[in-house]
Amino acid sequence: MSPTPDVPGLFDRAEEAAEAVRRAAGGRTPRVGLVLGSGLNDLVERFADRRAVPYSRIPNFPTPTVAGHAGNLVIGSVEGAEAIILQGRIHYYEGHDLDSVTFPTRVLQRLGVETLILTAATGGVRSDLRPGNLVCLSDHLNLIGANPLRGPDDPRLGERFPDMTEVYSRRLRHAAKEEARRLGVQLASGVYACLPGPSYETPAEIRMLRALGADVVGMSTVPEAIVARHAGMEVLGLALVTNAAAGVLAAPIRHEHVLEAGAKAAPMLGKVIRRVVMRVAGMPAGESGSTGEFPAYRPD
Ligand code: HPA
Repeated sequence: MSPTPDVPGLFDRAEEAAEAVRRAAGGRTPRVGLVLGSGLNDLVERFADRRAVPYSRIPNFPTPTVAGHAGNLVIGSVEGAEAIILQGRIHYYEGHDLDSVTFPTRVLQRLGVETLILTAATGGVRSDLRPGNLVCLSDHLNLIGANPLRGPDDPRLGERFPDMTEVYSRRLRHAAKEEARRLGVQLASGVYACLPGPSYETPAEIRMLRALGADVVGMSTVPEAIVARHAGMEVLGLALVTNAAAGVLAAPIRHEHVLEAGAKAAPMLGKVIRRVVMRVAGMPAGESGSTGEFPAYRPD
C-alpha cells in the first residue's frame, strides 16, 4: 500500500538503494549495522575484507557535507563477523530533512540489518564526564523539534505509533558493558539529548538539559534510533564525550577539538566496537528486552 502511487515512496526508494548495495556486496548479507560519528570515520580500518560503496553511487542516497564525515557504505568483517558500516552520516543541520537523515537506516532495514550500533561525538552535560569518556546510551530526549516518522504511514516500514520504551536495547547494553569491562575500558550510562545544531549550546541551554535529565548532548543519533526501532531493529548507542558541554568548563567549544578528541579516543572505542560486533553478530536475533540467554539488565 503506497500512500502516493505516482511518486516513488520511501519504501521504494530505499529498496532501489538496497538493491544497488546488494549488487555491490557480492552476496554478503551482514545483520549488524554500524554508524560512525564525527571524528570516528577511521574506525572502519578496524574491519577486514572491506568493500566500500561511495554514497554517490547508491541511488537516492544523500551525501554528507560536513568536515570529518566521509561518505561510504562499507561492508567489512571482524574475525568473521560481518557488518555494514556507514562511514559518514547525514545531519539535520546540513539542511537535509529527517527523511534524508534517516534514509541510510531505511536502506539497512531493506538489507536485513537487525542490530544497529550508533556512535556519536557528544558534549558532556553531566559534570563528571570528561573528553575521552565513553557513554552507553540508556535513553534519549528528542529535542530536534521534529520526528523522523512524520509523514505518510507505510506499514511495510513499521507501525504508525511505535513504542519507544526501550530504544536502546537492554541486552545490547549489557553485552557492551561486559565487553568494555573485559577490555578494562570504562563505559558509563547516560541519556542523550539531541538538538538540531549546528551552533553549540549556550550555558543556559546546558543547565536546562541537565535539569531535564540529559547526560550528554549531540546533533545526531536520535532520528536514526527512532527509525531503527520503527524498523524493528535492536539499537545500541555509544557516545564518545569529546568536550565538556558549554559552561561546564570555561573553554569555548570548537569543531576541530571535537574531531581531535574523536581521533584520540578512536582506538579505545574501536576495541569496544570490534568486541561488540563480534558478540552481536553471534547473538540470536531477538526483540529488544527479550531475556533469552542474556539476563535483563537494569543499569540506571
Ligand atoms: N554539543 C552538541 N553536539 C556536540 C557537542 C556539544 O557540546 N560535542 C560534540 N557534538
